Amino acid sequence: MISSAAFSDTLERDRELDLFAHRSHFPALEVKNRSYFNFGGQGVLCRAALDAIARNFQHIETQGSFSNAAGHWMMSEYNATKVAIAQEFQVDPTTITLTENTTVGCNIALWAIDWQQGDRLLLSDCEHPGIIASAVQIQKRFGIEIDYFPLTNTHNASAEGKSSEAVVELLLQHLQPNTRMVMLSHICWNTGQVLPLKAIAKACHARNVLVAVDAAQSVGVLPLNLDEIAADFYAFTTHKWWCAPLGLGALYIRPEIFDEIEPVFVGWRGLTGKTPIPQWRQDGAKFEVASSTYALYEAMRIAIAYANNWGTQQQRYERICQLSQILWQRLNDLPHISCIRQLPPESGLVSFRVDREISKSAIAQQSHSSIAQQLESEHQIFIRALPDPDCLRASVHYLTSISDIDRLISIIETFA
Ligand SMILES: Cc1ncc(COP(=O)(O)O)c(C=O)c1O
Repeated sequence: MISSAAFSDTLERDRELDLFAHRSHFPALEVKNRSYFNFGGQGVLCRAALDAIARNFQHIETQGSFSNAAGHWMMSEYNATKVAIAQEFQVDPTTITLTENTTVGCNIALWAIDWQQGDRLLLSDCEHPGIIASAVQIQKRFGIEIDYFPLTNTHNASAEGKSSEAVVELLLQHLQPNTRMVMLSHICWNTGQVLPLKAIAKACHARNVLVAVDAAQSVGVLPLNLDEIAADFYAFTTHKWWCAPLGLGALYIRPEIFDEIEPVFVGWRGLTGKTPIPQWRQDGAKFEVASSTYALYEAMRIAIAYANNWGTQQQRYERICQLSQILWQRLNDLPHISCIRQLPPESGLVSFRVDREISKSAIAQQSHSSIAQQLESEHQIFIRALPDPDCLRASVHYLTSISDIDRLISIIETFA
């Protein structure tokens, strides 16, 4: 694990200088005395992406909104965007369905199979409320059973080694003979725990169980090869760690299952254009519906290009872990703070509690959500409170600087 001191090494200090040059392209990070730790909620847009949004809306008007020229331009944007996303995951663009956000992608996955009464769906107990709601609707509609496996009990497990095997084992213990799908997050939104997804997918496939993944917190954080991981569905948004505009998400569907699944919401985007209707396109478009905000697509590609320009997926992930481990260590050194995980973080999410028994300060006696509000209004430190576990969550990005961490720690120190 890297210590704060390691960051004063020349190499690392130079990298910090590089970072500040790179950060100057992100207006939200240029605001004086502001420290942004909410990448797990939403990222920040670079100036070139912001400009592209305005320019592309203008371009459509200039071409003539429903003109052939604008139509061709929109289709080329659409194709280029799928290519750009697919390239990040080393998969074919035909495996990509464009959506608006993670939750739509998870819904497509959850509703795509022909559920029969008595079938079972296995969720972890750390899933996001929108995903649980969708599962409960499927339960009501088809009379399936939902099981939960207690991932919370393993929040100190690593994604590598023996403890990762224990996570897979725990999940397998909760599969029933008629479990048809497991739905789980690649990175837990509340603890930052990374799940051993490749091993989970392998073990589930050996039992004929589909694996659907909520990747809201992993895309833009982990280096990803979706072919190798082999999950059946991988649903994500681009507006968090990828720092793309709100309103653009995607879903990867493993080609091997394409013929076994069906869309629920459909529209012209999924059709070949031939009669008799419907004749489906044999790619991710089958699960898309109709008109979208094509003017946003270039901004998303720009966001990905900016990240890649700074460093490879592996280099960005390593920096995220170095920084989140520094933050975690410094929080651990404060007697009035308890980190939720006992292990150094393997992702950018660092969750911690202010211990009201130990701290005597007035602010520490307040709820975590009031603490988060005060950090924002009084110090321009953006961090979120979580309901379960009741805590604060800081998201550390490759764009985070050591001085952001210093500022956060120096304020939290005053809560003693
Ligand atoms: C794990 C997880 N799933 C789903 C969501 C919802 O994301 P979206 O708004 O992209 O659907 C979030 C957002 O915070 C999340 O952290």
